[in-house]
Amino acid sequence: GGGWLIPHKSHNSTYCTFGFFFVSYRDKVFRLKPVLDEHVTLIKDLAKNIEVDFWSPEGAELVTIDMDVDIHVPAQYLNIVFTILDQNDMEHDVLIEDVQVAVDGQADGGPTPRAHSYTKYNNWNDSWIASISSSNPNLISKQVIGNTYEGRPMTLLKLGKKSSSSKPAIFMDCGIHAREWISPAFCQWFVKEALSTYGSDAQMTSLLNQMDVYVLPVFNIDGYDYTHKGSRMWRKTRSRKSGSSCIGADPNRNFNAGWCTLGASSNPCSDTFCGYSPESEIEVKNVANFIRRNKAIIKAYITIHSYSQLLLFPYSYTYDLAQHHSELMQVAQGASAALRSLYGTRYTSGPGATTIYPAAGGSDDWAYDLGVKYSYTFELRDTGRYGFLLPESQIKPTCEETMLAVKYIAAYVRKNI
Ligand code: ARG
Ligand code: ZN
Repeated sequence: GGGWLIPHKSHNSTYCTFGFFFVSYRDKVFRLKPVLDEHVTLIKDLAKNIEVDFWSPEGAELVTIDMDVDIHVPAQYLNIVFTILDQNDMEHDVLIEDVQVAVDGQADGGPTPRAHSYTKYNNWNDSWIASISSSNPNLISKQVIGNTYEGRPMTLLKLGKKSSSSKPAIFMDCGIHAREWISPAFCQWFVKEALSTYGSDAQMTSLLNQMDVYVLPVFNIDGYDYTHKGSRMWRKTRSRKSGSSCIGADPNRNFNAGWCTLGASSNPCSDTFCGYSPESEIEVKNVANFIRRNKAIIKAYITIHSYSQLLLFPYSYTYDLAQHHSELMQVAQGASAALRSLYGTRYTSGPGATTIYPAAGGSDDWAYDLGVKYSYTFELRDTGRYGFLLPESQIKPTCEETMLAVKYIAAYVRKNI
């Protein structure tokens, strides 16, 4: 392998850790199409030698032949990357010519500081949660399930008609990965829609009458805040450990489901670092503890990510089919059809391992093995035109169509428990 040599990165530059990128002028996002084993090796070598920010899949260890590989390349490495691609005849497109332009173009402008809006990307702040949860005491309440590494309260919203007996429930989280901004936007949208359509929309009314929906608006609050104030492309948590200068672990590799066996990295500097032990990340522990404590009532687990337009279900840590594979597939296909009915957006459904890539330690597999049968991971819009930098103009249509899929799953669960 490796017919080329380039200087090793300097560890004292501003690019001091993997996964930490200052977006600079003219950074590009490439889509590589490896069709030979040599191409795969080349991509992995590239990742070892320069700071490539993997968008899809999320790490070099996840790259396989015949897969689209989307990478964000800092401006300083463009020459070497173009040279290597040409020399090795690897097919590629430039998805984003100028990352800074896409970052700036994501927001539709307006005054700063910007007021909260369901059609904008809002940073995490206590005030939306406080105001929404006090808006309708008969339908919504909040509880703190623990604090993040940096000490922010993880507030969980409970939606559902007040009842004296305990109701079956659905748990949904957004923002496991910091840079996937459309995800927290969806959880906020869902809460707003639930409150405003209860009583008029038959499906939502039945859902909230018969079940409770727990919504965690932002799972990885520290990371999310950091993507607003520090580095837009941050993915992981923000935990630190003495002995490593690299920060954070991938929360969706840190659950106790085949932990760190495949599709994850044990290198603390990697964007898919599985953590030092299962549930080492306090955010993961807090969520896992809540779901464990309430596993008797939690019938479905839904987690919202982006991008790729996929509706995934277990397993991702093994190629084995889940015990309820055909039912999970049938529900996923129904949900995808409902989603598509609105704007024609196409989703692919299937088990994580074969539909995206094998990757252990994910929340969906963990919840499923705990006994939460209906366990789904959404990968929202788009398929790479904007990737994580989905413009704000797409928040509304994305959330509207995703509502249909989530409501489809919820209705199915409600009728089948
Ligand atoms: N893009 C998601 C991730 O890498 C996919 C998650 C699918 N589920 C899983 N258990 N790996 O985290
Ligand atoms: Zn994600």
